[in-house]
Amino acid sequence: MSLKIGFVGTGSFTRFHCNLLAKMEDVEVTAFCGTSLDKAEKAASGWNEAKGYDSITSMLDAQALDAVYICVPPMAHGETEYALIERGIPFFVEKPLGLDIELPTDILYKINAQKLITSVGYHFRYMESTKRAAELLKQRKIGMALGQWMGSMPKVGWWRKQDGSGGQFIEQTSHIVDLMRYLMGDVEEVYAAYANRVMHEVEEGVTVPDVGTVTVKMASGAIATISNTCILPGDGPIGFQIYTDQGLLEITKDSIREFGKSFVIEHKNINNPYVREHEAFLHAVRTGDSSRILSPYADSVKTQAVTYAAIRSAAAGAPIRISN
Ligand SMILES: NC(=O)c1ccc[n+]([C@@H]2O[C@H](COP(=O)([O-])OP(=O)(O)OC[C@H]3O[C@@H](n4cnc5c(N)ncnc54)[C@H](O)[C@@H]3O)[C@@H](O)[C@H]2O)c1
Repeated sequence: MSLKIGFVGTGSFTRFHCNLLAKMEDVEVTAFCGTSLDKAEKAASGWNEAKGYDSITSMLDAQALDAVYICVPPMAHGETEYALIERGIPFFVEKPLGLDIELPTDILYKINAQKLITSVGYHFRYMESTKRAAELLKQRKIGMALGQWMGSMPKVGWWRKQDGSGGQFIEQTSHIVDLMRYLMGDVEEVYAAYANRVMHEVEEGVTVPDVGTVTVKMASGAIATISNTCILPGDGPIGFQIYTDQGLLEITKDSIREFGKSFVIEHKNINNPYVREHEAFLHAVRTGDSSRILSPYADSVKTQAVTYAAIRSAAAGAPIRISN
């Protein structure tokens, strides 16, 4: 039987995920919830019999959905998650989980009480390069890691506002933080330095920092720094480099490069990690077996705790301890 899926949010990533789901068997996107009925109906018009709604309640009252995808900006979380938990409807939510740590922690408490199936869009976990790195690291000792998300400022209005996106480290670089946690374990302490150098002078209404560096102490004893900027005119490097006793591992969205004493081996990613994250989530919805989901809500809350601690550290000018 076909799974009936609803979407909350009518923006670019809703379209992106819908296009992938359209190619999958036994999945039907039947409902879209937007900030206005007009936007929701426009989003629905491309999808056979799909209907648009202007509130999560009206969407859930009108249709018996098997699962919902939440693709809204960081400031718009809460109401949707609570409505889905109350009705016991599994959800996939795009990262990040919100602007702070209090809301995701409360949502998690309610998810746990319901034993609800959830998945979060930290798709780097589903890359072949990540799988290969995890295998290699079983036999290696990690000394340190460097991560970076360097690029330009996305054009959508909410992204440039601190109370819209939470800033680049939460909104984008959390992919790298999540990858670090997945491969290197729990974080014990963060110390961040942020600054506004360029973007507030060249664009209207920018309140997010446009450069930042975060130093991290891991529970294992390893250390890392993760840096980001959005001042570039175009794309810059995005990736994660792990320095081990047997050489450097460099992970990007395209491949993993393994540096030995006198050789470099590159393994390219072949499969689409977004497809793999959908397959894992939809398998769980169909069967109740959530073992293929690599990024459940409970785990992503720990990534959110690190990225939110970085904001507090930068504001206080002092390291922040993370309780695991
Ligand atoms: N995993 C990834 O690789 C990846 C890539 C891009 C975006 N994302 C994430 O997806 C999320 C959405 O990004 P986007 O690019 O689609 O943004 P977007 O600005 O294109 O779309 C956001 C949509 O959410 C709607 N919205 C805002 N508040 C809402 C609410 N309370 N209820 C319903 N809809 C609401 C807006 O009207 C808009 O249609 C962000 O958190 C972003 O970080 C993830």
